[in-house]
Amino acid sequence: MVNIVDLKTEYRTNPLGLDAAQPRFSWKLKSDLKGVRQTSWRIRASSNGRIIWDSKETFSDDSQRVLYAGPPLVSRQQIMWQVEVSAEDEQGVLERAISEPGYFEMGLLERSDWRCQWIEPEEAVDIHARKPSPYLRRVFQVKPKLKSARAYQSAHGLYAFWINGQPGTKDCFNPGLTSYYQRIQYQVSDITGLMQEGENVWAVKLGDGWWRGVTGGSVINNFGYKLHFFGQIELTYEDGSTDWVITDENFRTATGGLLASDMLMGDVYDAALEPVGWQSTEFDDVNWPKVHLSTEHADAALIPSRSVPVREKEQFDAKPFKDAAGSLVLDFGQNIAGYVRMNLRGCRKGQKIRLVHGEDIKDGCFSIDNINHCSYPVDAFQEVTYYCSGDPLESYCPLFSVFGFRYVLLEGYDGEIIPGDFTAIAVYSDLEQTGSFQCSNPLINKLVDNSLWSQKGNFLDVATDCPTRERNAWSGDSQVYVRTAAILMNVYPFFEKWLIDLKLEQYASGKVGITFPSTSSVHSPEALADAQKVSMMYALAGPTGNGNIGEDCAGWGDAAVWNPYMIYLTYGDRQILENQYESARHWLDYMLACAKEHNPLYESQPQYHHWEDGELDADYIYDTRMHYGEWQEPIKEEITAHNLAEVFKRMIERGNPQVATAYMARSAGNVAHMAEILGYDQDQQKYSLIADRIRRVYSKYLIAEDGVIEQGHQAAYVRALVMDLCSANKREMVISNLVKEIEAAEYHLNTGFLSTPFLLHVLVDIGREDLAFRLLEQTENPSWLHAVLLGSTTILESWDGMDTHQGSHNHYSYGAVCDFLFSRVAGIRPKFSAPGYKAFELAPVTGGSLTQAKAVFESLYGTIVSGWNKTHDSILYHCEIPVNTTAFVTLPDGRQMTLGSGSYEFRC
Ligand code: BGC
Repeated sequence: MVNIVDLKTEYRTNPLGLDAAQPRFSWKLKSDLKGVRQTSWRIRASSNGRIIWDSKETFSDDSQRVLYAGPPLVSRQQIMWQVEVSAEDEQGVLERAISEPGYFEMGLLERSDWRCQWIEPEEAVDIHARKPSPYLRRVFQVKPKLKSARAYQSAHGLYAFWINGQPGTKDCFNPGLTSYYQRIQYQVSDITGLMQEGENVWAVKLGDGWWRGVTGGSVINNFGYKLHFFGQIELTYEDGSTDWVITDENFRTATGGLLASDMLMGDVYDAALEPVGWQSTEFDDVNWPKVHLSTEHADAALIPSRSVPVREKEQFDAKPFKDAAGSLVLDFGQNIAGYVRMNLRGCRKGQKIRLVHGEDIKDGCFSIDNINHCSYPVDAFQEVTYYCSGDPLESYCPLFSVFGFRYVLLEGYDGEIIPGDFTAIAVYSDLEQTGSFQCSNPLINKLVDNSLWSQKGNFLDVATDCPTRERNAWSGDSQVYVRTAAILMNVYPFFEKWLIDLKLEQYASGKVGITFPSTSSVHSPEALADAQKVSMMYALAGPTGNGNIGEDCAGWGDAAVWNPYMIYLTYGDRQILENQYESARHWLDYMLACAKEHNPLYESQPQYHHWEDGELDADYIYDTRMHYGEWQEPIKEEITAHNLAEVFKRMIERGNPQVATAYMARSAGNVAHMAEILGYDQDQQKYSLIADRIRRVYSKYLIAEDGVIEQGHQAAYVRALVMDLCSANKREMVISNLVKEIEAAEYHLNTGFLSTPFLLHVLVDIGREDLAFRLLEQTENPSWLHAVLLGSTTILESWDGMDTHQGSHNHYSYGAVCDFLFSRVAGIRPKFSAPGYKAFELAPVTGGSLTQAKAVFESLYGTIVSGWNKTHDSILYHCEIPVNTTAFVTLPDGRQMTLGSGSYEFRC
């Protein structure tokens, strides 16, 4: 039996609002038989009950990214599609199956589809003060025999909406974050079920969001000073006629209880000021002024949401306790990004309740010292201040704020706390979880769980460094973690959307932002001037348009190359390479140009005096500009407020030839490979030669004759090995120096941001599994398990964060070790020759104290399982291979075989 399941269009289930000219279809096949392969597919797509495209039977095993090839799709078109496949098993027995229908709906493809205008509810605003949330409403009529109703909406800021008092959507933090001046997302909501015949009301609240809130921690009003809203409701009747309700001057506006709402600072809400019933039709808004029209940034492209929506997910009930200072603290047991929904009982009118959200208990007391480091002078940090209405039972839940927290300091409340009264709600992009790992060491299992929670805590439409202090979408962090991200969740649409913003914000020189979309104020001259007052990084960068001095940074800008490359490996979609190739190549060319600039500090060194084929060797060493390098390396100079400027100036002067040249080599190799995949032969040849040349120069000048790498520690050796930077005669010495470093560190890791993900891979590759498992299972600091042992529920920014109470407690980067667990311990490894796990390796590595390990990975083709159990004399290996894929298996005893779909067991 073959079954077709999990139909997706553009990586989503039944999406509304697509704008792809040729949407990508995909499906999975399930079967209990062995060696099953699809032999043909046929798609039929219909619209309005009429077949518009019949692909006819196509003899191919493609079941991913099959492109729609019917007549051009038009705005609002509703399409049902079904796929019929033939498949055969090992015996050649042919089966046919037909899927349930899939559905998608097109968005508004032409500017002329939009009848509405941007509206501006606020009069003059004080740009530095916190501002109340504008409320908007409009009454409209619905005639009998309504067939369907859709809302198309967007905002400068964030919006939430209600129809006749009912929430219009479950999606949060709309319209999401993009490079707003260039493109802004709109959402399509099916609101048919909320409509009533006769009078209806469309009610909206706006929040500061990324548009004018404190994001990045260093500036406010990053994109603008005023909030705007834009939208139309389309009512389609059974007779085919349509009515439009649009944003124009007929919208009315007022403010209410929500006196301030900033994603980072939080909310101020006075329940007594909330206009009663303003979201219902009965409310009389005659005293509410009308809005103005606005043209501010109205020329940015309107695009439908490109990724999955942000949703409310897991919920946690509070355990209240008194801390050492006698304060009432709520412990939710898990560090999350989200907010608290609260029920308050028996409060007086005007009673002030304050909730402060934090991640740490320091010396027995609630503390936000580790995260409260904004350079912008904030009025509040992760706080909700609520003034009560005086009703016997009242409830509150933020709409536009999101906090990183496990603990909440609760002030001003003396009512009884009944279970369920204070509920923490995790909020993140609703990405399908695809990876789970479990082994006989419970601390390792908790490490994986912590990593998943840090991913959940930071993947809110874009991937941030942490959900507390900076909330910046840092390129370096995502580059370090992207492989693990793509194992734990299906992040294809998330990264496809986000990388386009990287490209859009790339400078004309090819330089790539360290955060993108930049929430550090490169967007407007006024905001940049503000940023330069508070942030040394901007002050040092010089004139407007130059961005931030860190933006030349190797390992961070390389997200332009590595992220699409890794996403292609995991999902096999050429689209990501087609989208990003030019941007990747441009960043590489920028690094190569920076390498050609001379750094006077090094001019006396031999690389500046040796030419080969007419080119100076120093021109292939990137020794200029500022690089963060192995950020958070355990052995590092401590950076404090006092030495910050001095440290950064030194970093600029010295550059970081070791790190920057290595990344330039890796990116040159990656770009060459991308060019090969895309069939750009000239580029492939050009960048392969460049990659070879950088590698030769690296080995010659940056690795000493005895294999020592200056300022080495473990990271430098790991980097040189994983990026293939050592010439054959130095490789063994580099390996032995790495081992010596690990021994000298007494089997603790000593790597920073960039090299940590590769440390264990390199040790297995050089045949030192023993060391890899010893480091993996180490529990003393620095190690992955140290924080786990001390009770962390997420991944920390620094190795010693639990001991020192410094640094964020929710920084996913070091969770990148999960890739090692899935791809080496369980052994599930994708291959570039058949990307997207169409064919993959299963090559488990056993070791350490582990007696058992198992990973389950939901690939685009179906579930891959790989696990082993070790007894005193043998290993039992079990694997499951999805239909339509091939696995190249290497068993722990060295036996190799090629297998098709099915479930298998081997004793070794
Ligand atoms: C962030 C990092 C980031 C780094 C740049 C930090 O403040 O939290 O995660 O990549 O700056 O080095």
